[in-house]
Amino acid sequence: MPVKSPNDWDINLRPTSWDEYVGQEKVKNNLRISIDAAKKRGGTLEHVLFYGGSGLGKTSLAGIIAQEMGATLRTCAGPSMEKTGDLASLLTNLEEGDILFVDECHRIPKIVMESLYSALEDYTLHLILGRGPMARTMELRIPHFMLIGATTRLSLLPAPFRNRFGSIFQFSFYSQGEIEKILARSAQLLGAPIDPAAIRMIASRSRATPRIANRILKRVRDFALIQGNGTISPDTTERAFAFFEIDSWGLEQADRKLLEILMTTFKGGPAGIQALAAAMNEDQETVLDVLEPYLLQLGLVERTPKGRVATPLAYKHMGARAQDKMV
Ligand SMILES: Nc1ncnc2c1ncn2[C@@H]1O[C@H](COP(=O)(O)OP(=O)(O)OP(=O)(O)O)[C@@H](O)[C@H]1O
Ligand SMILES: [Mg+2]
Repeated sequence: MPVKSPNDWDINLRPTSWDEYVGQEKVKNNLRISIDAAKKRGGTLEHVLFYGGSGLGKTSLAGIIAQEMGATLRTCAGPSMEKTGDLASLLTNLEEGDILFVDECHRIPKIVMESLYSALEDYTLHLILGRGPMARTMELRIPHFMLIGATTRLSLLPAPFRNRFGSIFQFSFYSQGEIEKILARSAQLLGAPIDPAAIRMIASRSRATPRIANRILKRVRDFALIQGNGTISPDTTERAFAFFEIDSWGLEQADRKLLEILMTTFKGGPAGIQALAAAMNEDQETVLDVLEPYLLQLGLVERTPKGRVATPLAYKHMGARAQDKMV
């Protein structure tokens, strides 16, 4: 019987408590101790920095910290802070104990970043008013806040900025079991009946990333509604993978295009990231943040000082696919 599927816009798959937040045990255990201690002291937490690939749960965890601390979470993105004035108005509007979540903090402009240093350390902002001989500096007190910075690229952060965080946490890829747990919860929230075998199949093609797992789940759910009886069975899942061209390693068209270009246009490499992105007609950030990390993790691409190289495994994987297509 076709299942009435609720509107996705109304359903938030984001975990909202420690229990719902699967995996990243090291990060979670560390944070829980700091949070409990801060609560006992009646103080705030030190600033923390999250780094790791896209979709691994940085924003979600920031939300849980705020909830645990009973604090208001304010969110902004690094590139949106164009001038020191933007930072000043953001910080002066905070209240004591608020948590400020800054996404993509490697993209905070340098001049704004420098003003942030004293805000993080002494909760003061030094502003320069006017220009030339008439310029005056003004010191502005700001409320005690906690910064949670998130970045996909730790290496782009200046050392003085990094040093102002009490802890730096790296987010790792998820295990098959963890992704299965996330998928089971998401399917339940979406009201999509799913076979445990189908959960295992989707998990193994999710590139060890919760966001991708949830995205594939929604696509397979839709496919099952239109092409099947609404239940996500192993058979429907297999057909959905073929239809969406998600291969056995979870690679999609864009990933395979990267490998193909590296193997043909660049004869296996080494290829500089700029040239590779240009040949793919993608922007560099997408290649670096979205496509490349999992290909590196799988050992299909290697990073060398001269550029990216396709490994023998890449030839094997792509060759096997070419053969599959011929039969
Ligand atoms: N540990 C987790 N447990 C359950 N679901 C998760 C977990 N981590 C992430 N998710 C799911 O994946 C989605 C993406 O996670 P999130 O937005 O927190 O990632 P992110 O690290 O902030 O990514 P980006 O770097 O692209 O901003 C969430 O909406 C949630 O549905
Ligand atoms: Mg995020």
